[in-house]
Amino acid sequence: MAKAALDRIGYAPASGAIGVHVTGAGLDTPAQGETAAALRQALHEHGVLFFDFGQPLTRDQFETFAALFGELEQGYRLSTGKEDVAAMADPMMDSEKLPMKDFGINKWHSDGTLFENPPQAAILTCVEAPEAGGETMWASAYAAYEALSGPLQRMLDEVDVLHSSRRLEWMKSDASAVHPAVIRDEFTGRKALFVNSNYTDRIVGMSERESETILQMLFEHLNTPDFHVTHRWQPGHVAVWEQRITQHRGVAGFRGPRKLRRLTYLGGRPAR
Ligand SMILES: [Fe+2]
Repeated sequence: MAKAALDRIGYAPASGAIGVHVTGAGLDTPAQGETAAALRQALHEHGVLFFDFGQPLTRDQFETFAALFGELEQGYRLSTGKEDVAAMADPMMDSEKLPMKDFGINKWHSDGTLFENPPQAAILTCVEAPEAGGETMWASAYAAYEALSGPLQRMLDEVDVLHSSRRLEWMKSDASAVHPAVIRDEFTGRKALFVNSNYTDRIVGMSERESETILQMLFEHLNTPDFHVTHRWQPGHVAVWEQRITQHRGVAGFRGPRKLRRLTYLGGRPAR
C-alpha cells in the first residue's frame, strides 16, 4: 500500500537550479512512512517543493499536510516587537495587514537567522492570489556557494558571521547569533552559503570595510537569476522550503489582495 503511494509521486523541475513541482502526493499523505521520507529527502535536494491541490486548503487540511515536513512552531515569530504581528496563532501573510515592503519581505533573506535556532523550514499555501504579480522567489544557496571560486569558498568555509536586526529599520529586536558563513545540509552533505541581506551583520574577525565589501558582494552574488525560481500563486498551491539551503523574497508589485497561510518548522543550530 505504502509502496504504491510512493510510486505515484512525480517530480518536475521548476527551474535549472532550484525547486520541483511534485505530483501524486495527496493531502492525506501520512506523516510517517516511505512517501513522507522521500518527500523530506526531496526537500533537502531541491530546496523548494511545489504542490497544486486545485482548490484552497482548509486550515485543518493545511496543518495535516504540513506535518509531513517536520515539527511545527506554534504561531509565527516575526519578531517585530509588535505584539499583533509577533503572536499570530493562524499566521496569514495578508497584503492588507502585513505590507511586504514594510517588513523586508521583498528582500532576499532566510527567516530568523538572528536567532541561535532559526526555523528549519516554512510552508505557505495560497488562499487568495492577486490578480497579477505578487510572486515568491527562492534562491538556491547550494548553487550560490558552488558558483564561487575555490579561494573564496575556502575563506568562507572558515569564517563565522554575526546575524542581527541592524539592517532592518522596522525590526526592534535585540536578538543576535553567530553562525557559520557556509553550512552543510545533513541530508545531502552539500554546502550552502548562509549569509543573507536582511540579517547578516558582519563577518567575525574582519575589519568593518573588509566585512562589508565581502558581504555586499555576496548579497549581489545571491541575486544572480541563475540561482532562482519564481512562483506565481494560485489558490490551492502549496510551497514548502528548507531555510538553510535557500533564501526567499516576495515580489512587492501586485494588484489585488494577496493572502498566503503560513506555518514554520522548528530548527536547531546551523552547522558546517
Ligand atoms: Fe521570510
